[in-house]
Amino acid sequence: MNQSSVLTTQDVCSGYGTATVVRDISVDILTNEIVGIIGRNGVGKSTFVKTLIGLIRASNGKVTLFGNDITNLQPELIARKGVGYVPQGRGIFPGMTVNEHLLLGGYLQRDSKKRSKFNKLIFDLFPILHERRSQMAGSLSGGQQEMLAIGRALAGGPEILILDEPSEGVQPNIVGQIGEAILNFRKQLNLSIILIDQNASLISNTVDRAYAVEKGSVVAMLDSDAVRDEEKLSKVLSI
Ligand SMILES: Nc1ncnc2c1ncn2[C@@H]1O[C@H](COP(=O)(O)OP(=O)(O)OP(=O)(O)O)[C@@H](O)[C@H]1O
Ligand SMILES: [Mg+2]
Repeated sequence: MNQSSVLTTQDVCSGYGTATVVRDISVDILTNEIVGIIGRNGVGKSTFVKTLIGLIRASNGKVTLFGNDITNLQPELIARKGVGYVPQGRGIFPGMTVNEHLLLGGYLQRDSKKRSKFNKLIFDLFPILHERRSQMAGSLSGGQQEMLAIGRALAGGPEILILDEPSEGVQPNIVGQIGEAILNFRKQLNLSIILIDQNASLISNTVDRAYAVEKGSVVAMLDSDAVRDEEKLSKVLSI
């Protein structure tokens, strides 16, 4: 398959106040690729992806989506252009039902045919969400809430999906299900995916390659062989 760039960054820097956290990060995500961003706690992985989606301002560098400059646009505009985001910690509203979360995500998708197609896929991927569609999200388990957060982002019909630590606080057997779902929706929707995670088995079972981050900078690119080498991976994750 001929792969072209979906999302690219060039020398992106960002941080909080006067503290620089992300230092000159350049990445290139191609069509239909699953790319990992891995590294220890606090190296700046979440800060980097929040910069991509406009939640944190880039103090330097450039972010492009399908060749168009999206650097420092408003987050809602970046979402409308097709960048889906599943935040670390899930960002679920406990007092809203499963269906209401999916409606909220689907609000971005104006095409009603596409909206039904995505909703069907979400329920096929995560049947438990269909079973619990009328329940409050606060009553779901951690793994089910993660599925809901992924479903909400998919309901918007993204071209690229950013997942920030989907395995955090999720039981190991459910992490496997989430990994399978990621591979499944990539295939069915031709999506590009950025996956941040510290779970070595989730990373090695899903990503095509990965950028390793240390102290806010990319220090290595792990190719498809390297990401399947648990020893190499554990060194990068060193947890
Ligand atoms: N809102 C904030 N204000 C100030 N500093 C912050 C803020 N959020 C994060 N930081 C700092 O920025 C650095 C990078 O944090 P970030 O959350 O991006 O790391 P991470 O790689 O995602 O870590 P984790 O694996 O724990 O999720 C850390 O030193 C953190 O303390
Ligand atoms: Mg993080």
